Amino acid sequence: MSTNSMSRRRFLQSTGAAALWLPTAVKGHTSNEMQALFVDGVMQEDVSKWELDTPALCVDLDVLEANIAKMQSTTARNGIASRPHAKTHKTPIIAQMQLDSGSVGICSAKVSEAEAMFQHGIEQILMTTTNVTPTKIRRAMNLRESCEGFIQATDSPDNARLLSAAAESMGIVADIVVDIDPGGHRTGITPGQPALQLAQLIDSLPGLRLRGLLCYDGGSQHVKGFEQRKNQTLERLVAASGTYDLFQQSGLSTEIFSGGGTGTYNIDHETRGLTDIQVGSYVFMDAQYIDIGGESDNEAYDDFGPSLTILATVLNAQYEGRATTDAGAKSCTINRPWPVVKGETGMSYTSGSDEFGSLRYEDNASRSYEVGDKLELIVSHCDPVVNLYNQMYAIRDDRVEAIWPIAARGMSA
Ligand SMILES: Cc1ncc(COP(=O)(O)O)c(C=O)c1O
Repeated sequence: MSTNSMSRRRFLQSTGAAALWLPTAVKGHTSNEMQALFVDGVMQEDVSKWELDTPALCVDLDVLEANIAKMQSTTARNGIASRPHAKTHKTPIIAQMQLDSGSVGICSAKVSEAEAMFQHGIEQILMTTTNVTPTKIRRAMNLRESCEGFIQATDSPDNARLLSAAAESMGIVADIVVDIDPGGHRTGITPGQPALQLAQLIDSLPGLRLRGLLCYDGGSQHVKGFEQRKNQTLERLVAASGTYDLFQQSGLSTEIFSGGGTGTYNIDHETRGLTDIQVGSYVFMDAQYIDIGGESDNEAYDDFGPSLTILATVLNAQYEGRATTDAGAKSCTINRPWPVVKGETGMSYTSGSDEFGSLRYEDNASRSYEVGDKLELIVSHCDPVVNLYNQMYAIRDDRVEAIWPIAARGMSA
């Protein structure tokens, strides 16, 4: 085994043994039973996470809090801010924790997600996706009317005119950033003169107020190897920095220059002008991110800990070399790499079938599971997994401390 894969294994093992505290009579509390025990924000009984009915989505509070604190201290040291993306957690309680730690606001991917956040008390929201239909433009401007901290991204002159007309008809002036394409051509306008002309148009339209620009380089976030990732993203953001310069030279607002994500959180401050990073996955982490490697460990990206897990129960253990669980595609998605069994070595997990997960033992598996046993999975890709659940259990020292509604779950429009 290579040193690298040994270090990845060590990291995954160190993320916690499978069971720290297991009561003798495992109850399997259903979601309704758990809700009944959670009164006025306080659990009325000690419930171990191992007593939860499964599949259940859990977040480890110590790890989550450490991730948020680390992001805050790193951005502060690097002289930038964080504006975490709520598309990852869709959970207002987590958004509030991020704001309380010093984040300047949150981002949203969908207007319905932004509405849900605002309804739950989050008031600084940057919508990073352009709204193009009359319905969505109206919804975004309606939200802006009641939420002064709402900022909308746009990437075309036609869209800017529509936004301005909608804002004007409602008697408001909407805050806008220009979305710049980092080269992937997914969203955004071409940097340089096209972006400058759009910014000048926004600045001249009566219903809009220019606040700056954003450039999210999604194509660099999962590049394996720190140096490769760093070189790629810094190179791809040169054009956005040049556009920032053009805005400044033209007397346009550059109050916001937002970009970056979890994979480049400790690189993005080197991009001239960048004010804040739109980090999402760092709160939870997942197998996709662990695989990219970090600055200090090229094999396992361990800057942040995996706080989000799915609890699963073994349904069948009667066949050699394998076991079947109750957490398949509908609980874990079919993203790759597959989920990782937390605290175990010598086994792999696949969640390709709708209702069932499949556990396979290698020759050196440290243990095998019996029917009714529970196991914990580090998720494959956190964002889509969260969107499968109505609530997550907030766990400390293996006990359920709270139940958090995923208020923007399913808010994909
Ligand atoms: C526009 C935008 N910003 C930020 C993020 C957060 O990225 P990450 O989860 O890699 O931190 C995403 C994720 O896809 C995104 O689409």
